[in-house]
Amino acid sequence: MKDVIVWIGAGQIGMAIARRVGYGKKIVIGDRSLANAERAATTLREAGFDCTATEADLSSRESILSLIATAQSFGEIAMLINSAGVSPSQAPIATILKVDLYGTAVLLEEVGKVIKRGGVGVTISSQSGHRMPALGAEADELLATTPCEELLSLEMLQEGNIRDTLHAYQMAKRCNVKRVMAEAVKWGERGARINSISPGIIVTPLALDEFNGPRGDFYKNMFAKCPAGRPGTADEVANLAEILLSERGAFITGSDFLIDGGATASFFYGPLKP
Ligand SMILES: NC(=O)c1ccc[n+]([C@@H]2O[C@H](COP(=O)([O-])OP(=O)(O)OC[C@H]3O[C@@H](n4cnc5c(N)ncnc54)[C@H](O)[C@@H]3O)[C@@H](O)[C@H]2O)c1
Repeated sequence: MKDVIVWIGAGQIGMAIARRVGYGKKIVIGDRSLANAERAATTLREAGFDCTATEADLSSRESILSLIATAQSFGEIAMLINSAGVSPSQAPIATILKVDLYGTAVLLEEVGKVIKRGGVGVTISSQSGHRMPALGAEADELLATTPCEELLSLEMLQEGNIRDTLHAYQMAKRCNVKRVMAEAVKWGERGARINSISPGIIVTPLALDEFNGPRGDFYKNMFAKCPAGRPGTADEVANLAEILLSERGAFITGSDFLIDGGATASFFYGPLKP
């Protein structure tokens, strides 16, 4: 039986990663949009990969469990790629928190329970989470360790404390990074590793929605004034993911990697400073 990759979020970043690491494995592709999952599966199949598409909603534990069960019907889960998510211009606050924050926490927990010994995973966070000031040790610990089903009841995530969809997204992505740290300890008990990647602006349908959304000028200015002077590509994110998911990354777990063309550096110490 082949090793299985669970890949949720059949967008451009996930596709670039799956192409790097998926050959010779069974790739089970889940997406809220079955059409997106099937399109990704067709593209990969036509390039010689072995994959199956299924509908899966990151915001639902039931759906995540069903995705895991589908994956296990093909063999042991050896790898997780979580590249599902909604951006600040794509959804209201409640949806962003349910998908990006709660859903990611549940996925890491559930895959962590069954990942093969020596298995590995990556979840896509965002540079956005790096722009907020430190939340403090207590808030960090709550984000890292609160049981998943209680996460959305945390005081800091209640209506009056979340300013807008961008703030919700930043909190979700900060939470992803903290969750990865806490989960890395549990995954380690199975000899498995989990890390996150925080990309800057990467040209994908999600980023195009941002360019055309209410913060379009803000985003265009962001890449124009970052040290790289341009947005990144999904393939550049995959360069990093490939290392993390391979044996070359064997000593890396519980970490987050910023890959943003220097936008965060410029935000704190350069022309992007607010
Ligand atoms: N593109 C960027 O500039 C950028 C920057 C930082 C972080 N990210 C993050 O990268 C990840 C991947 O985004 P992308 O840029 O490849 O976008 P994309 O639009 O190409 O792909 C996102 C995919 O996630 C799916 N999805 C959305 N909600 C879902 C849900 N509830 N359950 C399952 N699937 C769902 C969408 O249908 C889509 O196929 C997201 O978490 C996003 O927040 C993207």
